[in-house]
Amino acid sequence: MPKQHIPRPFIDDVITRTDIVELIDARVHLKKAGRNYAACCPFHEEKTPSFTVSPQKQFYHCFGCGAHGNAISFLIEYDRLSFIEAVETLANAAGLTLPVNADQSGQHKNLSDHYELLTKVSTYYQQQLRHHAEAKQAVAYLKARGVDGRTAKLFAIGYAPAGWHNLTTHFGNSRTIQQQLTATGMLTEKNQNAYDRFRQRIMFPIRDPRGRVIGFGGRTLNDDTPKYLNSPETAIYHKSKALYGLYELLQKNRQVNEIIIVEGYLDVIALAQHGITNVVATLGTATTKEHLQLLFRYSQQLIFCFDGDAAGKQAAWRALQTSLPLLQDGVNIRFLFLPEGEDPDSMVRQQGAQALQQQLQQASSLADFMFKELCADLDIADPAGKAKLKHAASPLLKQVPAGVFKQLLIERLAKLIRIDSNKLDHMLDDKAALSVGVATARGKQLDKPMTPLRLALSLLLQYPQLAASIHDQQPQINAISLPGIEYLQQVLQILAQNPQLTTGALLEYWRDQPIHPHLVKLATWQHPVPETGLEAELHGSLKRLLHQQQDYEMERLLTKATLQGLVADEKKLLQDLIKRQKQLQLSKNNLGGDISEAS
Ligand code: UTP
Ligand code: MN
Repeated sequence: MPKQHIPRPFIDDVITRTDIVELIDARVHLKKAGRNYAACCPFHEEKTPSFTVSPQKQFYHCFGCGAHGNAISFLIEYDRLSFIEAVETLANAAGLTLPVNADQSGQHKNLSDHYELLTKVSTYYQQQLRHHAEAKQAVAYLKARGVDGRTAKLFAIGYAPAGWHNLTTHFGNSRTIQQQLTATGMLTEKNQNAYDRFRQRIMFPIRDPRGRVIGFGGRTLNDDTPKYLNSPETAIYHKSKALYGLYELLQKNRQVNEIIIVEGYLDVIALAQHGITNVVATLGTATTKEHLQLLFRYSQQLIFCFDGDAAGKQAAWRALQTSLPLLQDGVNIRFLFLPEGEDPDSMVRQQGAQALQQQLQQASSLADFMFKELCADLDIADPAGKAKLKHAASPLLKQVPAGVFKQLLIERLAKLIRIDSNKLDHMLDDKAALSVGVATARGKQLDKPMTPLRLALSLLLQYPQLAASIHDQQPQINAISLPGIEYLQQVLQILAQNPQLTTGALLEYWRDQPIHPHLVKLATWQHPVPETGLEAELHGSLKRLLHQQQDYEMERLLTKATLQGLVADEKKLLQDLIKRQKQLQLSKNNLGGDISEAS
């Protein structure tokens, strides 16, 4: 179950009421070691203890193998619990009850009934296609579209006859059956009457990868609207996660090399009819992150197939944007645009499978499609065009996870705008602003310099109570736009609302997010700041951050001045910034250096 279903304040509360030392000590005997507790690490083999548990931070960390986390993480790793089970265990121990909607276990039985019922409904519709007098028209329609009996069987195509009460007539009219048919979207209720949702339609069952029927699409045989009627969202059918044809694809292919993503039910079916069986369709919705993650379980090579018109291009661009954060090395996504007015079904019927396969093999790479679109209305020979390209490309490239593929994209952009790719890399990398590299042995040193941002974040993560002392500076901090600043802003915002949170509870907010490991490193960095100097150090780092922001702002305005020119307000701001910087320079010269800088 997705963890966001447990309300955040409840998770905060659970962690706050748990003592991580007690929790771990019950499983791994801990020994007091200074302010912390230590043991031989339960997550790797060792003779001398490098596993430490901090009661103050409510966090464990192993300097040997890098294992780390809060109470929830420990139960997940050590007791092998799921996230929700871990929260539930801690909640029970703390005398808290999991909010009702977070616990689905009671619903499980119910849901398996739903799958079972829909599978029966699908069988019923298939029987109707074969035997119902009225279904002749449907069979003729499928034939006319080139779908033969074998393909119809593979996709379990059926027919929903005319009439308002076929399902209850067939499955029984008990209250339970009615409720289940309604809950699965097969009946709709109007004026307290329930009647069949699908009537006089060719029925396409939508199955999950395990083959369980989760919903249906029904196509009209005439010009009725909607052309396709789909199951509504139910407990088992979520169109943002479902993919039509995936089950059938898995049936037909022991090994999946690549997967083609099309738009329509009949595209999937027509391609299968022509021997192209590695095809799925989204169900009247844009491709989502969940769709892609599901597909990646089976293949890392995807080809999107879109209509060549404006709507198709737009849909492709959206698919590209959704893909960016998922482009780990190894993932290969391509795009094929069909001639306007054609879809895969019409193409394969006109030109045959081989011609279509050939076109699929020539589909554009994601990078080609992206840069072609980005450069479409730009003159990149012109400096202003280069600036625009960088401006448009940066937010896209930033979303791509670090790796070879990202590097290739960066190099390509750098070449186009004629700037050094290392410099561009640095400008694009928000997380680099926080990344402290691999923690060295015993965590004593960081192999990246302690920038003001890293220092401020590190201190706040380790000593959340310090946040109160900079509360009044929050407006200035929120105005900063340096790379990575959002994490500092988030930490301060969370602590303003929940000042009691420990390090362990605070880090929980970023579980499973790419930034999490970087924050953990900052939270476990053994810094050299003495206890009495913590607050001053935090204030010093913030002061330096604000100076950095001024430099950054000045550079931004100077660039803009040369590219586009400045409006009056911006000119004034730039003058102020220059004046302030001169004053700072003067005072530095007079005093022989900024005192806070020297600390
Ligand atoms: P299209 O309108 O492109 O139709 O819808 P199609 O798949 O080519 O259908 P045929 O060839 O006329 O039979 C593409 C997809 O959008 C969804 C369906 O999933 C459909 O397959 N859709 C379309 C709906 O959900 N409802 C509609 O009314 C139309
Ligand atoms: Mn079509």
